[in-house]
Amino acid sequence: MADRAVSDAFRALREAVALSPTNVPLRVALGRALLDAGRHADALVELKAAVLQDPAREDALLAVGEAAFALGRDGEGVEAWMRVLAGLEPASLADLARRALKIGRRPDAQAAYDRLLGLDPTMRDLGIERSLRFAVVSGAEPEPEAPEPVVRSRPSITFDDVGGLQALKERLRMDIILPLQKPDLFKAYGKKPGGGVLLYGPPGCGKTHLARAAAGECGVNFQAVEIQSVLDMWLGESEKRLHQLFEKARDEAPTILFFDEIEAIGAARHQLKHGPGRRMVNQLLAEMDGVNAQNESILVLGATNAPWDVDPALRRPGRFDRVVFVPPPDVAAREAILAISLRERPVADLDLALIARRTPRFSGADLRHLAEVASERALTDALRTGAMRPVTNTDLLAALERVRPTTVEWLETARRYVTYANQAGLYDDVSRYLQAMG
Ligand SMILES: Nc1ncnc2c1ncn2[C@@H]1O[C@H](COP(=O)(O)OP(=O)(O)O)[C@@H](O)[C@H]1O
Ligand SMILES: [Mg+2]
Repeated sequence: MADRAVSDAFRALREAVALSPTNVPLRVALGRALLDAGRHADALVELKAAVLQDPAREDALLAVGEAAFALGRDGEGVEAWMRVLAGLEPASLADLARRALKIGRRPDAQAAYDRLLGLDPTMRDLGIERSLRFAVVSGAEPEPEAPEPVVRSRPSITFDDVGGLQALKERLRMDIILPLQKPDLFKAYGKKPGGGVLLYGPPGCGKTHLARAAAGECGVNFQAVEIQSVLDMWLGESEKRLHQLFEKARDEAPTILFFDEIEAIGAARHQLKHGPGRRMVNQLLAEMDGVNAQNESILVLGATNAPWDVDPALRRPGRFDRVVFVPPPDVAAREAILAISLRERPVADLDLALIARRTPRFSGADLRHLAEVASERALTDALRTGAMRPVTNTDLLAALERVRPTTVEWLETARRYVTYANQAGLYDDVSRYLQAMG
C-alpha cells in the first residue's frame, strides 16, 4: 500500500476508536495495523489499552507480546505471553522460554518449555535445557528491577521559554506556584492549596513544556510519571507502585508531580467496574485526596491529548478540578515561539510577524520544527561555501513549503466531541476556539 493509503487507513481506524473508545475489537484492529506497519510503540499503547478493557482478550495479549519484544521490553512481553500460553505456537513457546531465561524468570521459562515439549516432543532444545539446569544450580537470577516509572528533574526552563499562553501562565502562578512558595499566606486567607490542574489540547502545543516550566519557575522538583509503566497491569502491581510514587513525592516535597497522557489510566472508564483500570483510577483518587488532606507541598498536574478518554471521576473537586484547554498558539504566540526557537542561532533579516501570519494551526512543536528546517538550509549553504551565514526569512519561507501543521486532525476530532458530547460544558473553551477559527 502507498504511504498515503496506509495513513488514511490509520486515520479511519483512529477516528473510529476515538468515537467508540469502549469498542475493544476496534482498538485491537488499530493496534494490529500499527504493529504490522512496524509502529511498535504506538501499537503497544493501543493494545495495552485493549487488554485493560478486556483482560482475557487473547489476540490482544499475543500482539502485546509481539510489540513488547520488538521494543526490547522482554519483561512485559513475557508477562503477556504467559497469560496466553495455551494459545502459543511451538516456535513462539521456544522464543518465550529463551526470553524468560534471559531476564531471569526461570519458572516462566520452565512452564513455556514444558508446554512446548507437551505439544511437540521433537522440539527439544538443548540450549534451553542447559540454561534451565544452570538457573537451578546457580539459583535464579533476581528479577531485574522494573524500570522506574518516574523521571525526576529540576527543570531549568521557566515561563520565559514558553511562548504565548499568558492567561494560562497567570493562572498557574496563582493556582500552583504561589501556593507552593507561600503556603502560610494562602492558608491565612483560607485558600486551600492542592487540587490538580489538568491540561488538555492538541499534541505539540506545550502541555508538557508548560508543566516543566512551572516547576522551573518556582525551582521545585519535577517528577514526570510515565503512566504506561505504572500501569504495569501484568504484575498486578500498579496500585502499589502508584502509592510508592506519591510517598516518594512526599519525601521530596515541594514537588510537582506530573502525569502525562493521563487518559491511559482512565481508558477503561465505562466498562470494567472492577477491572485493573478501575482499581488504578480509585488508587489515584485516594492518593490525590490524601495529598489534600495532609496539605502537603505536592502539586499534581496532568496532561492529555484525549480529554474524552479521561475518567470523569478524576475531574471532581479536589482532584483535577481545573481542566484547562491549551490551544494551538495564536498569531502573537506563534511569533514568540519562533523567536524562542531561533534564539540561539545566527539570524538576520527576520520578519517573524509575517511567518506567524502564515502559520495558522501550527503547533509549538511544528514551529520549532520549521525553525530547524530553516536553520538546516542555512547550515547546508555554510557547509558548501565554507562561510557562515545567518538564518533569514527566505529560509523560513522555504521551510514553509515542507512543514505542515499537525493540529488539524485533533481539531476535527475535538469538533465532533464538542458537537455531540459536550456534557457539562466541558469543552466550552474548545468550542469558543473552534468558532473563532471558523
Ligand atoms: N508555547 C510554546 N512555547 C515554546 N515552545 C513550545 C510551545 N509549545 C510547544 N513548544 C515546543 O514543542 C515541543 C513539544 O511540546 P510539548 O510540550 O511536548 O507538547 P504537548 O505536551 O502539548 O504535546 C516542546 O518541547 C517545545 O520545544
Ligand atoms: Mg506532552
